[in-house]
Amino acid sequence: MADLRTTYMGIELKNPIIVGASQITADMDTIKKIEKAGAGALVVKSLFEEQIQLERFKLEQELTKYDERHAEMVTIFPRLEHAGPAEHLMWVKKAKKSVSIPVIASLNAVTMQSWIQYAEELQNTGVDGLELNFYTAPDDLNQSGESVEAKQLEITRAIDKVVNVPFSVKLSPFYSNPLHFIARLDKENVAGFVLFNQLFQPDIDTATEKNCYPFYLSDAKDHRLPLRFAGLLYGQVNADLCANTGIFTGQDVVKMLLAGADCVQVVSTLYKNGIDYISTMLGDIESWMKAKGYKKLEDFRGKLSRKNSADPWIYKRAQYVRLLLRESPIE
Ligand SMILES: Cc1cc2nc3c(=O)[nH]c(=O)nc-3n(C[C@H](O)[C@H](O)[C@H](O)COP(=O)(O)O)c2cc1C
Repeated sequence: MADLRTTYMGIELKNPIIVGASQITADMDTIKKIEKAGAGALVVKSLFEEQIQLERFKLEQELTKYDERHAEMVTIFPRLEHAGPAEHLMWVKKAKKSVSIPVIASLNAVTMQSWIQYAEELQNTGVDGLELNFYTAPDDLNQSGESVEAKQLEITRAIDKVVNVPFSVKLSPFYSNPLHFIARLDKENVAGFVLFNQLFQPDIDTATEKNCYPFYLSDAKDHRLPLRFAGLLYGQVNADLCANTGIFTGQDVVKMLLAGADCVQVVSTLYKNGIDYISTMLGDIESWMKAKGYKKLEDFRGKLSRKNSADPWIYKRAQYVRLLLRESPIE
């Protein structure tokens, strides 16, 4: 039997498949199924700033009797009324106690006060690690990229001072140079990078001429983005690399490992194929390793990274030009 063990953020995982933060990891029956299906670890659904703010407004409202902001928050987020941070922390604690695989908590805050307070409180639930979800979708023409990065570095440093468990950063690919920002974060004790988070984007319904907010799962080709960045980052940063987005099959996991990832996170494939599909993916990784004569992940991890690749041009712009200058680029 192939040895699928890996380490992520210094945590030993029995295999590289982590179930990512989502509704899937916010339900007790499902997280037990995740463990049974053989996942290496799971990331609990994020605690969001909106949940934290709603609870703060509720407290204020009790003091001031009437609070317009509270009414507004409840209208925008009606389902958050009973999902405040206290409930979330209790749930994370319960989740950690219920499974024996590593459990990572996820935080998606906005204000510095929330980042620090809840990173500490999530750590106190007993989780093995934290994932900081830097969800940045700038909408201000006057905000510079440098100011976005400076703020996120400040948050990272502040959290590093208050937590003892390892923490990762899940970030978007939309920096002018994500590699440079990752290299800056890498100097701040970040133990892992999750490549990448998904930004939910509004659409427009042309029939009603209204904005709408459809929810899309990933597409099978979306894994090419994390694949490229895993390939470029392998051997360049101290933190571990966790590829995420569009990883649907065991073959996709193998691709990420060949590029240089230490592990992967999956969500959409489990919505599409069910939780038990984790064991199919694991079986497919093992079969591939057996066919290739690999005994452990380190035998091939990073083999096709930029660092180890025989072709130095593989991750370069030249590939794109070569493709487009072909007589028929679409085959
Ligand atoms: C229903 C749903 C809920 C999600 N909730 C969270 C969340 O709470 N925190 C987070 O960081 N990502 C969340 N995500 C994003 C996933 O963790 C993951 O990054 C994304 O789905 C890409 O991975 P995939 O291609 O395997 O789906 C959610 C995704 C889905 C589909």
